[in-house]
Amino acid sequence: MHTSKLLWAEGISKIYTIGQIQCTALRKTDLEIRKGEILCILGPSGSGKSTLLNILGGMSLSDTGKIFFQGQDISSYTANQMALYRRNKIGFVFQSYNLIPSLTAKENIELARQISSKPLDVSQVLEWVNMQSKTEHFPMQLSGGEQQRIAIARAIAKNPEILLCDEPTGALDYETGKLVLQTLVEINQKTNKTCVIITHNTAVSQIAHRTIFMRSGQIYEERLNECPALPSEIQW
Ligand SMILES: Nc1ncnc2c1ncn2[C@@H]1O[C@H](COP(=O)(O)OP(=O)(O)OP(=O)(O)O)[C@@H](O)[C@H]1O
Ligand SMILES: [Mg+2]
Repeated sequence: MHTSKLLWAEGISKIYTIGQIQCTALRKTDLEIRKGEILCILGPSGSGKSTLLNILGGMSLSDTGKIFFQGQDISSYTANQMALYRRNKIGFVFQSYNLIPSLTAKENIELARQISSKPLDVSQVLEWVNMQSKTEHFPMQLSGGEQQRIAIARAIAKNPEILLCDEPTGALDYETGKLVLQTLVEINQKTNKTCVIITHNTAVSQIAHRTIFMRSGQIYEERLNECPALPSEIQW
């Protein structure tokens, strides 16, 4: 199974302060992500899932604790080192796709490739997400599921070590959500890229190798799944 640690966090906390009000989003959380796994993060709204993912991906800083990527302490990185970390090591996928509307599907992917030091072929990633036929379409000419598959292609085109997906199926209907999950599973199987998927949907955790459960800014349970299901086999 997956044993080698890729990205891990020790004792990370995050407190947001707005005016007089403080909100503790993460409380001394430890977490380990293993190379090649699909890890699902489950938890109710406000439990700190996105906060955790954003800190792991170098988009936000924790108030306490350390984060290690392949043994390097990224919590001590300068802003420039952090930018390179985000560019070269991390692929992000968001609920709302976040494609640039004035660029075609292919151009969205090309743009991401340009900021990476070792990008993959556009044709290769388009094949993985099964979107070869709509490369010249603008985002508004694509369905939600197609936009999300282009967003996944864009994330993977940088050739990152890990895909961080924040509710990638949150805006999609049942069948389209399954198709997007299928795309993520296939990319994990073909490339052995590590994949973290945040979801509200407990059924989605059946496709993961491991699931962690969050509540009130803490991880309270972890479950291993010896036999992950295919997205086509799960129901919700
Ligand atoms: N930029 C911010 N400023 C202030 N408070 C924030 C900020 N981002 C998150 N929070 C607060 O931190 C807590 C955790 O938020 P977070 O977005 O991590 O939750 P989540 O588990 O991703 O929820 P959801 O499932 O709704 O996306 C919430 O109480 C939220 O209001
Ligand atoms: Mg969130």
